[in-house]
Amino acid sequence: MRAHVITFGCQMNEYDTHTIQSELVAGGHELVSQPLDADLLLLNTCAVRGKPVEKVISLLGDLRKQRAAGREVTLGLMGCLAQLDEGRDLAEKYGVDLLVGPGAITDLVAAVAELEERRGAGIVERLRFDPGLHDLLPPPPTGLSGFLTIMRGCDHHCTYCIVPDTRGPEVSRPVESVLREASAMRAAGVLEVTLLGQNVNSYGLADPSLPRFPALLRMVADLGFPRVKFTTSHPMNLTSDLIDVIAEHPNVCNFIHLPMQSGSDRVLRRMAREYRIERYLEIVREVRAKIPGVVISTDIIVGFPGETEEDFQATLAAAAEAGFEQAFMFMYSARPGTPSYKHFEDMPRPLKVERLQRLIEEQKARSLRANELLVGTQLRVLVNDLSRDSRHAVGHSDQNHTVLVPAETVHSMGVVQVTVTSATPHALYGELEGGAHGGIELVMAS
Ligand code: SAH
Ligand code: SF4
Ligand code: F3S
Repeated sequence: MRAHVITFGCQMNEYDTHTIQSELVAGGHELVSQPLDADLLLLNTCAVRGKPVEKVISLLGDLRKQRAAGREVTLGLMGCLAQLDEGRDLAEKYGVDLLVGPGAITDLVAAVAELEERRGAGIVERLRFDPGLHDLLPPPPTGLSGFLTIMRGCDHHCTYCIVPDTRGPEVSRPVESVLREASAMRAAGVLEVTLLGQNVNSYGLADPSLPRFPALLRMVADLGFPRVKFTTSHPMNLTSDLIDVIAEHPNVCNFIHLPMQSGSDRVLRRMAREYRIERYLEIVREVRAKIPGVVISTDIIVGFPGETEEDFQATLAAAAEAGFEQAFMFMYSARPGTPSYKHFEDMPRPLKVERLQRLIEEQKARSLRANELLVGTQLRVLVNDLSRDSRHAVGHSDQNHTVLVPAETVHSMGVVQVTVTSATPHALYGELEGGAHGGIELVMAS
């Protein structure tokens, strides 16, 4: 069939989309770049908050209309939503043909074949968590940056979070399989690899034959990528030796994404986050002491059930003390099936909106102050994209700042030195060191 995959959600879903695509090609299907050209349309969905689910519902609504108007297309619901009762209900309501969970990508081609055989006999479902999913090798990425999933699932049970239900229990990928894929990426010219997992710090913890995450990170860094990143780090399993590996390896980015979620111990306890705020801030202090110039980003949820003004103030204070350069801030979203949905009452939306706005205001000012300190300095930037209006080439610094330079001065994508000329809360603007020509220090795959 002519297949197209639409991706929602996190980087792990983007990675899974590559795997889905390579499975489809291996199964004799053709990939098309336009959804309208497809006769097999797969939605790789996200269920972490209400918003991404609403996006999927709205697309399903459009597709139902298109089909009513005569468009013939087979529809598959994949990704996190597919694994949930909520997903099955939607599949029935909107006439979806295939329901394939994030742990069953390896069953997709067989599911499509089954559907073709017994067309009209209801939804074909594949919802197991395949342990062999780890050993698939997606095709080498074509860009300069690539993702590499090193573990699947999550064994934490934060009370607000649906991910343990959608992705199943934590499984670390065999180290040989990780290194084989990383080497293939390096050989294909990838300059920047990002190691992915819901909680990369618990890599190998359950299996004594595996290295721990800091050792794995060292092995990947030693493959010679100009840049190695990883996400997400859970504060509970973050150890000093991980901070040391970042500090010691110039090609491991001086950037760490460390979700705080709340600054109030009372809320952290109700969220079942296993650390207290003082421990969190202690990690931040150690990271900043050992890695000069490091950028720390975080995730924060406001309006968790029962959060008082005092709890919220504690979050504002902790965020100020941590001095986050970047933050992803969310309003609590009650997800059916989670413990907090079952046991706690959601608070009025206007209160959540108001707190989120206050937090965003403070964070914007903090990000701007941090970025303004960089004006006049030089950063090493991996340029790998164009801005929407094509006026700027866009990339990221070694510390994960988004950096824009005038497009006409960049002759090819790659690593360049940039002098920062101005700053906004979310981005830095700059000029190529050495002017339009001659200044490009291209680090190509060797
Ligand atoms: N495994 C990662 C994050 C996974 S989800 C970690 O634990 O750090 C990404 C972020 O979404 C979380 O860090 C959290 O801030 C947010 N999130 C998860 N469930 C949410 C919910 N029900 N409402 C609002 N935000 C949520
Ligand atoms: Fe969700 Fe918590 Fe697991 Fe992160 S650690 S995926 S927030 S349950
Ligand atoms: Fe969403 Fe699943 Fe990722 S719920 S955030 S796509 S792990």
